[in-house]
Amino acid sequence: MADKKIRASVAVVVFVLVLFIVFFSTDLFSTDRRSRFSSFSLPSYITSPRCSAGGGRPPPLRVFMYNLPRRFHIGMLGPGGDQEDPAGDGSGEFPPWPATTGIKKQHSVEYWMMASLMHGGSAEEAETVRVFDGEKADVFFVPFFSSLSFNTHGHNMTDPDTEIDRQLQASLGISFKKSKYWERSGGRDHVIPMHHPNAFRFLRDQVNESILVVSDFGRYPRNLSSLSKDVVAPYVHVVDSYLDDDRSDSFESRSTLLFFRGRTVRKDEGIVRSKLAKILKGYDDVHFEDSLATGSGIRASSEGMRSSKFCLNPAGDTPSSCRLFDSIVSHCVPVIVSDRIELPFEDEIDYSEFSLFFSVEEAVRPGYLVDQLRQIQKEKWMEMWRGLKNISHHYEFQYPTKREDAVNMIWRQVRHKLPAANLAVHRSRRLKIPDWWDDRR
Ligand SMILES: *[C@@H]1O[C@H](CO)[C@@H](O)[C@H](O)[C@H]1NC(C)=O
Ligand SMILES: *[C@@H]1O[C@H](CO)[C@@H](O)[C@H](O)[C@H]1NC(C)=O
Ligand SMILES: *[C@@H]1O[C@H](CO)[C@@H](O)[C@H](O)[C@H]1NC(C)=O
Ligand SMILES: *[C@@H]1O[C@H](CO)[C@@H](O)[C@H](O)[C@H]1NC(C)=O
Repeated sequence: MADKKIRASVAVVVFVLVLFIVFFSTDLFSTDRRSRFSSFSLPSYITSPRCSAGGGRPPPLRVFMYNLPRRFHIGMLGPGGDQEDPAGDGSGEFPPWPATTGIKKQHSVEYWMMASLMHGGSAEEAETVRVFDGEKADVFFVPFFSSLSFNTHGHNMTDPDTEIDRQLQASLGISFKKSKYWERSGGRDHVIPMHHPNAFRFLRDQVNESILVVSDFGRYPRNLSSLSKDVVAPYVHVVDSYLDDDRSDSFESRSTLLFFRGRTVRKDEGIVRSKLAKILKGYDDVHFEDSLATGSGIRASSEGMRSSKFCLNPAGDTPSSCRLFDSIVSHCVPVIVSDRIELPFEDEIDYSEFSLFFSVEEAVRPGYLVDQLRQIQKEKWMEMWRGLKNISHHYEFQYPTKREDAVNMIWRQVRHKLPAANLAVHRSRRLKIPDWWDDRR
């Protein structure tokens, strides 16, 4: 009897639920969805990030930078690195990025982010303002050059060479435990550059709640890094930007159809490269060259990209690579072959306007790729080329920064992550059982 009653009430509840869902979903898919939810609209700086200076620009992001000894950052740039005077007060000279670092530069995002905070800069141009009182900060920047540390001290990945990289990370871990700002948020409002896929490899688990600045998610587990929490930053291009690329016959003068220069033997998804090498053989207007990135190699790549219509960007050891950003600043239309790539600033930039995307399966189909490229008419190509010229400034790292250049775009991404970080901080302060919905059935 009681059983029957329960069953009856369950039936009623289910019925009401179904009604509710049907009502809601039909309503959701009806035309007037936008106005219905207008009261939930995001702050204007999120929905219209491109508003012009003055008018609707949000106030700059207030960034507190930790005061770390030189060996954590600029000390690694060259002589004088063992001096212990902290370069945190903004009074000292900030050294330029050394010209001799070759491809180490591609992961130097950490350097340019720190530089942007060292230089006062005009508030008109910058997305950030540095604050010296942590109480007034929106986010906390940790100026540890984790990629350079790996490249300098840890590249060999065997002990004892890698010991200095490990020690730097360990002493950072200790300072975090002492910092009240870290403790207050569990590091969620802390910004940590981790651009090289092997950067910060000893301490990662301790900083998994922070806003990480990464190149992609190829090497990280979900519990460490994700699109919702972290910022995908471009590689720092190593070829020179093509500044006077104004020829009206650009389509004709770029005589190579498709260009690739790089290593063909790679791990993971990068296996596609050796397949492409075979498939792309025997075309007169396709340049596919197996080579190492060296000084003269970089010059050759630059020339090749400037005289090609399309530049091939297959996955390497990781889905992304510096080559993509080299081709963007060379205004060579990127042909991206990866099923797992993540791209920087994608909430503001539509890459399909100036790039082509192929799945790995499509790219290795004999004849398919070249055939598709040949079908692209001059007019369409010129449109993509103009699109590239129009956005390439978003990939320029410089000091002092300029409006909407790479570093300012990265800081803007940090700002976009902040509401979610704050939500997580505030919830964590009161929830007795974290993430109760994980246990829900
Ligand atoms: C790595 O380090 C070991 C030990 O110091 C050394 O014998 C070896 O030559 C290094 N390998 C490379 C590729 O540098
Ligand atoms: C994430 O998961 C991996 C294994 O799946 C584990 O080894 C690692 O410690 C975890 N990291 C964190 C921060 O929980
Ligand atoms: C960080 O790691 C902890 C411990 O493994 C895990 O509970 C938490 O969900 C992770 N945080 C994120 C944002 O993935
Ligand atoms: C140039 O880029 C801006 C955004 O940076 C975009 O709003 C505009 O439509 C682009 N113009 C052209 C011609 O592609």
